[in-house]
Amino acid sequence: MEGRLQVFTGNAHPALAEAICRELEVDLGRAIVSRFQNGETRVKLDENVRGADVFVIQPTSEPVNDYIMELLLMIDALRRASADRITAVIPYYGYAKQEKKTSGREPISAKLVANLITTAGADRVLAVDLHSPAIEGFFDIPVDHLRATPLLARAFRARVHGDIVVVSPDAGGVGRAQDFRTRAKGSLAIISKQHPDADKTEMLDIVGDVDGKTCVIVDDMISTGGTLIEAVKLLKSRGADRIYVCATHGIYAGQALDLIANSEIEELFVTDTIPLPQDSPANVTVVSVAPLLAEAIMRTHKGMSISALFT
Ligand code: R5P
Repeated sequence: MEGRLQVFTGNAHPALAEAICRELEVDLGRAIVSRFQNGETRVKLDENVRGADVFVIQPTSEPVNDYIMELLLMIDALRRASADRITAVIPYYGYAKQEKKTSGREPISAKLVANLITTAGADRVLAVDLHSPAIEGFFDIPVDHLRATPLLARAFRARVHGDIVVVSPDAGGVGRAQDFRTRAKGSLAIISKQHPDADKTEMLDIVGDVDGKTCVIVDDMISTGGTLIEAVKLLKSRGADRIYVCATHGIYAGQALDLIANSEIEELFVTDTIPLPQDSPANVTVVSVAPLLAEAIMRTHKGMSISALFT
């Protein structure tokens, strides 16, 4: 791109946006992203963006609706202010759990949110570990889908040595666990899981030998923590020795943090795609995605390959 690179953010994760700007050696764009007294979101860009290659960093985490609205209004403001190209950088993509109809009379929320972002005027999307790869196809604009697995595998291996079993807590996560296993080395185990109700989890069985082994559960997100805690219980019941966890998005809904703090998890490695809670348990280690996102932004700006980042 000819135009200058500019970075803006809403209120979802200013610390991550600032860390990315430090990596890129650019100043964070000035903008007011606040509320009118009537509760509506107010956006005003405080600098010229005409002809610029603009990246808006905004994970759509809790409060999801507010942060999605901030993102949409920022994109709209940038488009109307004649930015040349707008990339929505969404380290965590909310509304991803309903990405397909599992029964009648349900929305496909992830598709609706993709439509909103595109209609607002985004030219590209840069995301990290989408809950389902299908979401990429919900956009008719280019999507660069980054994976946190290389970062997590590296951080894990810097701390934990020796033989391991990489555990996928459900069939849908086998590809991710397999990728982790290729990088960290080890054998593979797969848990069969079902959801008897929304936000409820039951572990049915496990394929693979975990008896006396060091296990690492690899997952894309920790929401209620139900999946994780039930997986830990099942692994322990099958004789697993030490249990570690690597997860991309720490959502920590409901009692998740208490469950983790009081669990038999040795250490949880999680990225900062979502702001970290103040009361993070002592067994949580944070791996920053800022360098990865900064590199992907720079490559996008310069028209360089992103997939080369993962080889
Ligand atoms: C499931 O498909 C995902 O990979 C996660 O395992 C799940 O979304 C985690 O949610 P929770 O923490 O509420 O069990």
